[in-house]
Formats: sequence, structure tokens, C-alpha cells
Amino acid sequence: MGAPRFLPAGVYGAAAVAEAERRLYAPRFWHPLLPVERLPEGQALALELLGLPVLLTHPPGGPRLFLNRCPHRAVALLDAGEEARPCRRLVCPYHGWTYDLEGRLQAAAREADFLEPFRRDDWPLESLPLQVRAGLLWGAIGPDPLPLEQQLDLVLEVAGAELERPRRLLGTLRRSLACDWKIAHDNTLDDYHVAIAHPTTLHREQGPVCHYRHQLGQWANLLATPMQGGDFLTFGLPPWLHLLLWPDGRLVVLQFPPEAPDRCRMELWLLGEEAWLPQAGDLLAELERFLQEDRRLVEAAQAGYGALPPFRPGPPHRLEQRIVHHQALYRRLMVLA
Ligand code: FES
Ligand SMILES: [Fe+2]
Repeated sequence: MGAPRFLPAGVYGAAAVAEAERRLYAPRFWHPLLPVERLPEGQALALELLGLPVLLTHPPGGPRLFLNRCPHRAVALLDAGEEARPCRRLVCPYHGWTYDLEGRLQAAAREADFLEPFRRDDWPLESLPLQVRAGLLWGAIGPDPLPLEQQLDLVLEVAGAELERPRRLLGTLRRSLACDWKIAHDNTLDDYHVAIAHPTTLHREQGPVCHYRHQLGQWANLLATPMQGGDFLTFGLPPWLHLLLWPDGRLVVLQFPPEAPDRCRMELWLLGEEAWLPQAGDLLAELERFLQEDRRLVEAAQAGYGALPPFRPGPPHRLEQRIVHHQALYRRLMVLA
């Protein structure tokens, strides 16, 4: 095997690659959909997962995930929104088929007059895999996603029970970035740029580069940096997810789901003890500062990768080993050389 190389520039921003990722890469994994506290019992929320309209509901038996598609003629049962809302039943706006929050058909209009015998039990909503872990709702669209414990391998090994510590959602940030998700993901796995590009923000949090420690799992990877009270842990994991864990229990969930071949969404949730709530605005402002510094870089990288003549990436540095680690996994799943 030769020296590791970065992925070729041609895979960044290409429509055919994005389409292959939707088939070969993204369905293998679990995706954090929402902090669980944002979906109280008796509520529902429609959102998008990998381009699919999906529906989160919370009946008494626990949260559920469905395709947001009426089994009769495929219309969405609920309009997509930002916040979950109280919902006793889901009534299809087209012909009025009515579902409970468990996805069971409860009534159809003029039920006696179908052209063949009609049984409500034959027409439940299409259910998708859902799990609760680390205070988050995780959904999948593939029939056979990797077990979540594997996707979180190094996270569970290193952070263990810390992950399940009770937390409140302290705040969120959301931006659209003009770059392929892989550029944003690479950048967040990139421990080479921090001292240079974030001298007064993230670099202060992470401390001197000589104290950086890396660990590579089968799926996830880790940068640990010592700080007062313990280690600051920055996990990178597939598909485009990062978990940042402070010794005081604060957790940042940061992900870059694709919006288009050359666009992604930066979605950040800050969680922590309730006592942090009064400072939540300041904490978010700090995070926003370094994310803004990154935004300029990732959008410039996308422009550079797309420009002619074709770009040939330089050699990976030791502090870029988490990028190389993720790219090896990406190549394997995408069947790239
Ligand atoms: S499409 Fe929903 S009831 Fe007909
Ligand atoms: Fe950065």
C-alpha cells in the first residue's frame, strides 16, 4: 500500500457522487434527528431525512419514525416544520384517512365502498428505524443500518456513561454552507488548521498542539486535548457527524447533512446541564465565531476544488490523520480505489 492520499478533487461537489452516496453511504448510518426533549409525548413533527419526508411522533409507547406519506395516494400527512406540535391523530389532507401516533389506520372515509374488501390493519404508516441514545432521537432510512453501537464505537469506549448524562438543549445554530458536506466534515476532522485558522477561538479551547492525542476506531475517531477538569473530547464519526464533549458535561452535536452536491447544512445543538442556561447565548456566540472562521475556508476550498485546471491535493499531515481515517471508510463503502 502506498502513502495515504486525500480523496481526489473530482468527488467533491459532483452530482453523480452525491447520488451514489445516497445509495451506498448514507443509508448505512444512523442520523441524529432531534434532541428527545423537543418531541414531548402527544406531539408530532415532520422533517426531511436524506431527502425523504419523514414524520416523528410520540405516542405513549415511545417515539416513532415514519415516512411522511399516506399509504393511500402518497400525500404528506403533516407539513414540515421547525417545532413539534400537539397532535392527537394524523388526518390526511387528501381523502381523510386518519392515523394514530403509532401509525395505525383508525378510519378511512366511506370505508364500506372500496372496490375490494378493506381492512384497516393492511394500511399502516411505513415505519422507519428509530432509537434514543445520548438524549437524541436517531433515525435511519436503510433496511439494515450498521448497529448504532458500532457507529459510536470509540465514543462508547472512551466517553461511556458520560454520554447518557441528563442534559437540556441549551441552543442551536443552523447555516447553509456553499460546499460539499465532505469538505465541511474534513475540516472538522482537521487538527492541522486549528492553531492557524482559529488562534483566538477553538485553539484556546483545545490548547497546545503538542498535547493533542488521537485515537482511531473502526468507525469513529477522536482528538483528546487536556483541559482543567479532564479531557476535551472531539469525536468524528460517519456519516457527517461530530460530538464534542467537555469535562463539565457539555455536549455539542454538529452535523453537515448534504443539501445539494455542492451545498450542505451545518446543524449544531448545544446540550448541557440546566445550570448553563443563563450562559447559553455566550456559549453559542463563541461556537459561532469559530464556525464563521471555518465557513470562509470550506467555501473557498469548494471553489478551489471546482476550478480548472483539475486540482491535485497535497500530502496529508500527521495532524490530518482523522481525515485520512474517515476517507478510508468512505472509499470502502463507496467502492473507490
Ligand atoms: S392520499 Fe391520504 S387519504 Fe388519500
Ligand atoms: Fe476549523
